[in-house]
Amino acid sequence: MAEIFEDLNPPQRLLMGPGPINAHPRVLQAMAAPLLGQFDPKFREYMTQTSALYRGVFQTGNRWTLLVDGTARSAIEAALVSLIEPGDRVLVPVFGRFGHLKVEIARRCGADVRVIEVEWGKVFDDTALRKAIKKEKPKLVAVSHGDTSTTMAQPLAGLGKLCREHDALLYVDATATLGGMDLPTDAWQLDVVSAGLQKCLGGPPGSAPLTLNERAEKRIVRRKHTEQGLKAPGQQDGPGPIIGSNYFDLAMIMDYWSDKALNHHTEATSMLYAARECARILLQEGLPNAFARHARASRALTAGLKAMGLELFGDQDHKMANITGVFIPAGVDGDKVRRALLAEHNIEIGTSFGPLHGRIWRIGTMGCNAREDAVLTTLGALEAVLTAEKFRLPRRAGVDAARAAFG
Ligand SMILES: Cc1ncc(COP(=O)(O)O)c(C=O)c1O
Repeated sequence: MAEIFEDLNPPQRLLMGPGPINAHPRVLQAMAAPLLGQFDPKFREYMTQTSALYRGVFQTGNRWTLLVDGTARSAIEAALVSLIEPGDRVLVPVFGRFGHLKVEIARRCGADVRVIEVEWGKVFDDTALRKAIKKEKPKLVAVSHGDTSTTMAQPLAGLGKLCREHDALLYVDATATLGGMDLPTDAWQLDVVSAGLQKCLGGPPGSAPLTLNERAEKRIVRRKHTEQGLKAPGQQDGPGPIIGSNYFDLAMIMDYWSDKALNHHTEATSMLYAARECARILLQEGLPNAFARHARASRALTAGLKAMGLELFGDQDHKMANITGVFIPAGVDGDKVRRALLAEHNIEIGTSFGPLHGRIWRIGTMGCNAREDAVLTTLGALEAVLTAEKFRLPRRAGVDAARAAFG
């Protein structure tokens, strides 16, 4: 007989890395609710409610506000494959790993990709973005709001207007910031925005909320090619080239989420329950309160780290409110510290990628973990582990500074 292993019993960790973070208990409870068929009127009602709730989260009136089934990257891929026609020029401002991800996906979509880059730890100023858009004349600009790899947040308030002036669409990857930092989709004229649950929304990975406006809809719908087995007699395809993915075809996903309820994939029932509950929790708290809570936790964490004698990474004026990069002190083995935090304190913090690998840790304070006890526990544990590693630091200074910052 094949081995069937032990009962599932994962350790209780405090997830203070760049995501996933601990899911809110109400979200886990929602996921245990009974399954329904995807065309059950009650389930369709939950889908409609989920759209309405995410209009609140994205701060938009967009009709097309829905979930893509998959992790955050699935919505990035759905947006790009549905918006980019082969040969289209796409501009990607890269300020970290997730900019490179959008370059890679856009290339797979057959785009003529133009890249501008800044050093990791910085963001673009308005002049650089304006110059690049003027020069490249892209059909689409695809940018991250916050890039967890560098912990930086790109200011986006003026970019939507700039894109409109140059007749470009703007796609924003808000995976790591939605719910934790202000991102008013309509006020900032963002055409398509997507996210994932496992960061500031406080859910598990596996569902990707996305919103798109009429400008984006126009570009997508002209490429609609309904699956043969679902086509109504005489139904015509759109004049544009077919979207190069079936699963991530937003034209078909929109039909599925519309009143037509045209079959596409089987909606991920429990993930929809989770996404719906994440949005309810966030909107019950109120967006301004959630943003302020994330900012407060970040201020307290950074005050604590500095008081411990550690150096923060990157341009602090543009640091994300929900994740902090901190240099691994000279002579300290960064991976050993992370392993000890996990083994001895059940706390996870993040490593880093590319040019930052081995140089910084990344500590997340997001979703329901953006709270005082989680920050103080993490700082206390880090102090204990660093002390054991013979790093000299003032006793309790980190926790005390963070407590003072929380007021
Ligand atoms: C900005 C950004 N985009 C995309 C992703 C990819 O998300 P996922 O791993 O959920 O597909 C991440 C994950 O950390 C991210 O931070």
